Amino acid sequence: MAKPRVYATHELFPDARTILDAACAMEYWISPERPSRDEVLRRVKNKEGLVCLLTERINDELLRQAPKLRIVANVAVGYDNIDVEACTKRGVVATNTPGVLDETTADFAWTLLMAIARRLIEGDQLARSGNWKGWGLDQFCGADVWGKTLGIVGFGRIGRAVARRASGFQMKVIYTNTKRVPENVEKSLNAEFRDMNALLAESDFITLHVPLRPETHGLFDNPKFHRMKPTAYFINTSRGPVVDEAALVGALENKTIAGAALDVYEHEPFIHPGLKRSNVVLAPHLGSATVETRTKMALMAATNLVSIFKGQMPPNMLNPQALKIS
Ligand code: DGY
Repeated sequence: MAKPRVYATHELFPDARTILDAACAMEYWISPERPSRDEVLRRVKNKEGLVCLLTERINDELLRQAPKLRIVANVAVGYDNIDVEACTKRGVVATNTPGVLDETTADFAWTLLMAIARRLIEGDQLARSGNWKGWGLDQFCGADVWGKTLGIVGFGRIGRAVARRASGFQMKVIYTNTKRVPENVEKSLNAEFRDMNALLAESDFITLHVPLRPETHGLFDNPKFHRMKPTAYFINTSRGPVVDEAALVGALENKTIAGAALDVYEHEPFIHPGLKRSNVVLAPHLGSATVETRTKMALMAATNLVSIFKGQMPPNMLNPQALKIS
C-alpha cells in the first residue's frame, strides 16, 4: 500500500524523522528560511498530513486547498495559529504538544525574571565592551528577587511549574486564574489565589502563562499596567497578543512599571521599537528552546501524525470530533 503523503514545514530532528519516514512519504522543508505562505499552500495541496510550526497559519484558506488532508500536527503546545473549528468542519484532526515543555518554559520565565531584576544584559554589555572601569558601589544595582511577591497570571501546568521554583527564593506566590485551583494544589505550591486587580497591586513580579484565545487577546492593557506597582516587573513567555504592546511601551516610558522581560511579541518577528530600552530584556521566543525539549516536541508531533495513518487515536487531539466527520 502506498504510504500517505505528508509535508513537514521544517526538517525537524532525526528522532522525529525516523518515526515519520517509517510510516509516511515525507517531504521536508529544509531551507533555513521559513517557507512563504504560497510555498506552504503549494506543497500541502496533495498531502494527507501536515507537520507545522507555530509560525504557519492553518486556516480555511489552507484547508480548502488541501482536500486530502487528514491531520495537522503542530510542533507547539500553543495552537492559536490553527483554526481548530475550521479543521473540525473539514474532518481534519489537529494536534499539539502539551506537557513536554512545561518545565523548560518555566525555567525560561525565571531566566527572564532574574535577568531583568539583576540587570544582567546591561552588565554583560558593559563587561564585553572594554569600557568597564572596575567594581562600583552603585553599579547596575537591580532589585532583589528573594523574599518578593511573585504574581502568576494563568495557573495551568507552566504557571504551576513557575510557582514551584519560587520556594528557593523564599517568595510569596500569588496567582490568578479563570478558576481557583483545588486547595491541595495551592497548599503544595504555597500559592494564594487573588483576583486580577489584587494580584496587580500586590506583585513585585508578574509573569504571564495564559493561552492566546479571543478572551485573553489584549488582556494586559493600559488599566492593568496602571494598577501595577511602579517598582514591579512584567514577564511574558506566553503569547505576544495577550499584551497590548502599545500600552506596555507607554507604561515603560512613563515609568508606570519598572521594567519588562519578554519572549513573545504582538506581531512576531516585529519588535516594537519602544521596547528596545535598557529596562527591557528581549528574547526571540525561546521559552521551550532546549535540545531536549524541542526534540521531545518534534517526536510528539510525529507520533500524533503517524497515529492517524495507523488507525489509532492521536494522543494529543485538539478536536476528536473531527474523526466523526472524516
Ligand atoms: C509553544 O509550544 O506554544 C511555544 O510557544 C513554543 O514552544
